[in-house]
Amino acid sequence: MQISPYIQSLIAKAQKLGKTIVLPEGEDERVLEAAHVAASEKIAKIIILGNEEEIKSYFAGKNWSLDGIEIINPQTSPKLGEYTELLYNLRKEKGLNKDDAAKLALNANYFGTLMIKSGDADGMVSGANHSTADTVRPALQIIKSSRKDRVVSSLFIMSSKDGKTYYLSDCAINIAPTAKELSDIALSSAESVIQFGDTPRIAMLSYSTYGSGKGEGVDKVKEATRLAKEALTSEEYANKDITLDGELQADAALDMVVAKKKAPGSNVAGKANVLIFPSIEAGNIGYKLLQRLGGAEMYGPMLQGLNAPINDLSRGCSAADIVGLIAITVLQTQK
Ligand SMILES: CC(C)(COP(=O)(O)OP(=O)(O)OC[C@H]1O[C@@H](n2cnc3c(N)ncnc32)[C@H](O)[C@@H]1OP(=O)(O)O)[C@@H](O)C(=O)NCCC(=O)NCCS
Repeated sequence: MQISPYIQSLIAKAQKLGKTIVLPEGEDERVLEAAHVAASEKIAKIIILGNEEEIKSYFAGKNWSLDGIEIINPQTSPKLGEYTELLYNLRKEKGLNKDDAAKLALNANYFGTLMIKSGDADGMVSGANHSTADTVRPALQIIKSSRKDRVVSSLFIMSSKDGKTYYLSDCAINIAPTAKELSDIALSSAESVIQFGDTPRIAMLSYSTYGSGKGEGVDKVKEATRLAKEALTSEEYANKDITLDGELQADAALDMVVAKKKAPGSNVAGKANVLIFPSIEAGNIGYKLLQRLGGAEMYGPMLQGLNAPINDLSRGCSAADIVGLIAITVLQTQK
């Protein structure tokens, strides 16, 4: 299995934390291979959801050890009743009845999420066979945002062809973020980047640099920049090394020659490593162009701003991608 040097560095950090990650898609061979690697490399203890007999026989056929791996079948789990009750109590005010709670708790993504809510696992990686919405919805409903006043968003880690690391947000969750939500996304991204051991230099991206272009979208990014800068002056961020600026075009954010012309005096322009996109269209299209035409490696999207980490895989992921996301999820358990 080919794992990039960047992910290897995250794995080394994850190995020290001794966390438990649940993988709900035990029917998928990529997930089983990733479980084997993650457990044998001690990146995390692994819980696989699925049919115990089938998974055991798959592992035996490959001559893989099951050390560090627990297999749970939601249908026969003694905890199913407890999880159903928990789900019902959490969602009854939203109109969920007992019958529907019982059906939902059997769904692997809900079961895995309820394990985390109950303290039986620290994080979850899913989505090899599920849409983003199906993976993310239980997390939003059950685990919830860690701060009432802040939206949950997503972050991609990008390893560029020249070996640099960038962070991109929000390419996957908030469809049309307001200025306040964009500011939330920038602040959550700053916290994630610190969790990964890097220093956030955040560019609030737009089609305008310092007023060169006009329009509602520009006004939104300007306001988001103002709100985020204001939040960064609070005591919470006093000892954190975070720089943020906007509104900046992508070339001004990334290229020092352009930065000197378009945004002289900016402490971010030309050296940004965190790119905050103004909408999901810009972000989602942007990251896929970087991946397909720019040859960049993308990890994620990982969710940020939840009470516990739950992360979504792309359906085209490889076993190595899953191992990488398991390591990232372990790191996100750090407060
Ligand atoms: C993430 C997403 C699935 C949530 O939408 P949804 O399933 O319709 O969810 P709802 O709007 O019904 O909200 C469900 C719950 O999540 C909460 N929620 C939704 N988005 C949230 C966010 N960004 N942050 C925090 N909470 C959020 C809601 O408040 C609601 O809570 P409640 O039921 O306790 O009141 C939706 O925003 C989405 O589809 N985003 C785009 C996903 C996508 O296609 N990405 C591109 C591919 S990577």
